[in-house]
Amino acid sequence: MLTVVTAFNYENDNKSEGRVCMALIGPSLMCADMANLQDSVLRLDQAGVDFFHIDVMDGKFVPNFTLGPDLIKRIREFTNKPFDVHLMVEKPEDYLNLFIESGADMISVHAEATYHLQRTLQTIKDQGLKAGVAINPATPIHDIEYVLDVVDYITVMTVNPGFAGQKFVPLMNGKLRDLTSLINKCGYKIDIQVDGNIGYETIPNVLKNGANMLVCGTSSLFKQNLPLEEAVAKLKGFIQELETNKV
Ligand code: DX5
Ligand code: ZN
Repeated sequence: MLTVVTAFNYENDNKSEGRVCMALIGPSLMCADMANLQDSVLRLDQAGVDFFHIDVMDGKFVPNFTLGPDLIKRIREFTNKPFDVHLMVEKPEDYLNLFIESGADMISVHAEATYHLQRTLQTIKDQGLKAGVAINPATPIHDIEYVLDVVDYITVMTVNPGFAGQKFVPLMNGKLRDLTSLINKCGYKIDIQVDGNIGYETIPNVLKNGANMLVCGTSSLFKQNLPLEEAVAKLKGFIQELETNKV
């Protein structure tokens, strides 16, 4: 497991307490009640989530459409927590400014969606944001080996991107393990984010295999008849227990 979190600079806190850093919780806002998004963002922020994961789809890279820059700009007013914009779009380099201006703090682009991955990531960093690269389940980690020096976080898609409510792709735990050892072997400080069906069944293994940023959607936070505050408290308690039992 990676022992350092860079995107949020939690390094010092956790080291001083001598325990492995607490995994970070990021609600996937595409799973929220769109008719009450302001209320959901305010309540999730109050409940203590660490960042907000915002899925952007173009109907081409993935066969679906979700949130756009204007909506991001609007909800930016409701919280100071980091906005992690997950671009599931072709040629993401053409749209970076739109999302930077909308208030993103972190932007991940898909390695499969651009010819110029290194340049696109460098552009995000040059604009003062955290740069992330996302890889689909079938994409080997080797494909991002030569951008490890520029990324702040890597999003390992644990489902095929495009829809919430899908099942975890089983081989992704092995992929996480391989990615963690590659990062440690190269001595980089990179956060590992997992996205897709991240819930009580899948969290123990993804944490064990090196993930430290959890995108939480219908599998953990956005559930019928479970108030958001309770969902966050329950999830934090579950992760805390896993972390405590591990040390
Ligand atoms: C899927 C998105 C995910 C999704 C997660 O392409 O990137 O963020 O919303 O939803 P669940 O947790 O239901 O898989
Ligand atoms: Zn996502």
